[in-house]
This record gives sequence, C-alpha cells and structure tokens, in this order.
Amino acid sequence: MRKLIVILIGGLTLVVACTFDALEFTIDRELEQLIGDRSKYILPRSNELDKIPQSISNPLTEEKVELGKFLFFETAFGVEPSQHSHLHAFSCGTCHVPAAGFRPGTFQGVADGGYGFGKKGERRIKYPTYTDDEVDAQGNRPLSVLNVAFVNVSMWNGSFGSDAENEGTEDMWGVLDPATELNNLRIGTFEQQNIDGLEVHRINYSKHLVEQFGYKEMFDAAFPDVPEEERYSRLTASFALSAYIRALTTTEAPFQKWLRGNENAMSEQQKKGALLFFGKLGCVDCHNQPNLGSNTFHALGVKDLWERGALKTSVNDLRTLGRGGFTGREEDMFKFRAPQLYNLADSGPYFHGSSKETLEEVIDYFNNGVAENDRVPEEQLSYYLRPLGMTNQEKEDLLAFIRDGLRDPNLQRFVPNELRSGLCFPNNDPLSRDDMGCN
Ligand code: HEC
Ligand code: HEC
Repeated sequence: MRKLIVILIGGLTLVVACTFDALEFTIDRELEQLIGDRSKYILPRSNELDKIPQSISNPLTEEKVELGKFLFFETAFGVEPSQHSHLHAFSCGTCHVPAAGFRPGTFQGVADGGYGFGKKGERRIKYPTYTDDEVDAQGNRPLSVLNVAFVNVSMWNGSFGSDAENEGTEDMWGVLDPATELNNLRIGTFEQQNIDGLEVHRINYSKHLVEQFGYKEMFDAAFPDVPEEERYSRLTASFALSAYIRALTTTEAPFQKWLRGNENAMSEQQKKGALLFFGKLGCVDCHNQPNLGSNTFHALGVKDLWERGALKTSVNDLRTLGRGGFTGREEDMFKFRAPQLYNLADSGPYFHGSSKETLEEVIDYFNNGVAENDRVPEEQLSYYLRPLGMTNQEKEDLLAFIRDGLRDPNLQRFVPNELRSGLCFPNNDPLSRDDMGCN
C-alpha cells in the first residue's frame, strides 16, 4: 500500500512537472511567434562598434568612446557657469545620472545653478543665489541617453537630425529654435546636437584646459587626423560624446538575454507582460525599435513640466507644443516622440512633463485612456487613448516586463572609476560632494 502511494505521488509530481514545463514551453514559443524575427529587437553590444548605428562623419572607434566616457562626467570642463562659485561643478551626468537610468532622478534636470545630489539626483535643488534666469534647466524632463543609437531625430520634438524623419523640415531649421540651424552641418544627429548641448550646458574645452586636466593624450588618440589647432574643441568633444552615448546599449537586460536565446533570463510573469506588450495591448505599435522607442510622434495628452512648478518654463514654452513647436505644422501640435523603455525602473518620474511618479501610474494612465492636459485639442489626441480594460493581473504582468524585464542591472560598466581631474562627479558642488562622500 505504502509503495503504491509513493508511486502515485511520484507520478503526480511528474505530471505536474511536465505540465509546468509545457506551460513554460508554450509561453516562450508564443512570445517568439508574436515577436517574429528576434533580431529586430536585439541591441548590439557596446563593443560591437561596427553593428551600432552611427554617422558616416563620425565612425565609432574605441578611442572616441573611451574619451566620451570621461567627458560625459568630467566636471572640470564646466567652465562657463553663471556664477563663478559654480566653476567645475557640473557635467552631462548631472542631468543624465547613470544610477537613475541616465535620467535626472528627479522631475527636472538642473545643472549649473543646481546644488546637491542625494543618492541619484533626487535631492538636487536650485542654489539660493542664482536667479531663475541664470539656472541651466529646460522645459521638458531629460530623456535617457541609453540606446540612443536608434534615435534618428533627437529630443522630444525630434528637432535635431538632418535626414530620416526630418527630411522636408529644412525650411524650419533655425526658424523657431536657433539651435536647429546646426542641422545644416549634416554631420550626424548627436554630433550636431551635442555642439549645442555643450554651449547650453556651459561646458567648454581648450588646449590649455585639456592639458591641465590630463586629457591631451586621449584627444590625440581619438582625433589623430584633426589638425592640432582644432583638436581640443566643442566639435571634437561632441564627436567623442556622441560615440560614447551611441555605445550605451542595455544588453544585460533580461529581455535582451531572452532574445539572444537564454529563455530562463525572464520570469514567467515578465514573459506574460511581454505577451501583452507585443500582442493584445499593442504597445509595440509605437515602441517598436530595438530600444523599444521609435521615431514617431503622438499626442498622449499628458501634462507639461511647468505644471509642476519647474524652473525656466511656462505655459508659453514652445516645448509644450512637441513636434509642432519645431515644424510649426498644425498636424504636429502636442505630439512627442515615443521614448525608449529600458531601465525606467531606476527612477521616476515619467512622460515629457514628469506628470507620473511611478510606472504603476503610467500603466493606469494608458489603461484609463483619458487625456489629462486640457490644452490638447480632442482631434490631436492619439487613437490609442481609450480604455484598455486591463485586469489587475495584466497590469502586474505588464509592470513586471517593463520594470524588471527591461532593466539592465549593470549600467555601472559605462561609468569611469575616477576622473582624470580627480574631481567629484557627476556633480562637484559642496553639497553634492557631501552626498556622494567625495569629501
Ligand atoms: C540641465 C540638464 C541637462 C544637462 C546638463 C544635459 N542634458 Fe541632455 N537633455 C536634457 C533635457 C531636458 C533633454 C530633453 C530636452 C527636450 O527634448 O526638450 C535632453 C536630451 C538629451 C539627448 C536626446 C536624447 C534623445 O533620445 O533624443 C541627448 C543625446 C543628450 N541630452 C545628451 C547630453 C549630453 C551629451 C550632455 C552633455 C554635453 C547633456 N545631455 C547634458 C537635459 C540635460
Ligand atoms: C500611439 C503610440 C503609443 C502607444 C501605442 C504606446 N505608447 Fe508608450 N509612449 C508613447 C509616447 C509618444 C510617449 C511619450 C509621451 C509624452 O511624454 O508626451 C510614451 C511614453 C511611455 C512611457 C514613459 C516613458 C518615459 O520615459 O517617461 C512608458 C513607460 C510607456 N510609454 C509604455 C507604454 C506601454 C506599456 C504601452 C502599452 C500599454 C504603450 N506605451 C503604448 C507612445 C505610445
């Protein structure tokens, strides 16, 4: 009798185990079927430079990527602050914080004129002696620089970039936004943008500075063909920064591992969430590039940044008009680019106006499908804004996919151990130094 029970239980376990395996089996195959060609979504590894989308004007090299890795965080080159006391105090990494998914870690990025850091940017505030005008801050939440190689036209409004989706916008270059005149250079989207970025963010270079802070050799190695008198400039720095950010690919995220054949990399719940994302919910309509963003523009009717009491912006800010603020076309008004979706779990808030604190709230917003910004006319709103009727279980599955399945746990590999200047980074004001233990 006892033997029979043992056999029965043993058999039962086997049956249960088999059913479980079969379930795992079907969910992977189902997802595979839905996704189709897996290579569509596989991100190139950071060192596979020839596989990363790039500009023919700025072929990627290890030397440029390495230099860019330092320049992105180097506070020594923050040499044009509004107030002298803030010399050498900020960098690109001030608003694009690695631990926050290369986003600011708070609702607005503040570089020059900001003060403090917290753990990942969440405690940065305006410095009391700075007037609002003197501060370096913009009227949209900073985009992540992860996986930007798949961005053809950059910024929320796609205003940088001289081809692809910006073909036909030539007449507008420089008209509403003088910076977009740089599109005329036709040297590559980020190569153009970062020249402007370095100026806007008060960062600059010279042979003297580059020597003083230990970067001459690195510039020489990265740009041997550029004549020496032009080698230490915003232009070469822009090329190095662009090379570095193009190589920031989140290939260690579970979904990326799954795509490359490791089917245990994602939990069953993450897979269920992926099924919803690529299937029934149709998120993939707009989030369909390898970075799970796209170069398309849509009005989701979310609130703007001025509504959060942000610095240097107002209801009249052109940025609130999205793509329309760049092209001036009626049909583009209030439409924003669909952003990449990796490492969003590292920090809120979300959307261009930082109107949602958590990913749960973002999912609820999509699920409810009701615009929250009265300024956006009904006829501009995306077809997608309608109730999706998700169950609580579906919301949790989708969350698991976005929060965990799309999170690369090792972004630290993109950050230098220390700077050549020896200064604190990404910020170097006294309060940030305290927060980061640099003192
Ligand atoms: C004061 C904060 C701040 C600093 C400093 C800063 N950025 Fe940004 N960055 C932003 C904001 C805000 C946006 C989005 C602006 C918009 O689209 O309206 C952005 C967007 C970008 C984008 C576009 C990404 C995309 O998907 O289109 C890139 C690339 C970028 N920044 C790179 C840099 C680099 C390189 C530096 C250093 C030279 C830098 N940023 C410094 C705030 C900042
Ligand atoms: C019609 C196109 C479209 C569809 C479909 C779509 N999105 Fe988006 N998504 C966007 C756009 C555009 C934004 C940016 C909107 C803004 O900030 O103004 C965005 C923003 C987001 C953000 C915030 C990212 C950030 O950096 O702040 C998340 C998360 C997101 N979408 C997830 C999803 C999920 C999940 C689905 C499916 C339920 C989905 N999206 C469906 C276009 C779309």
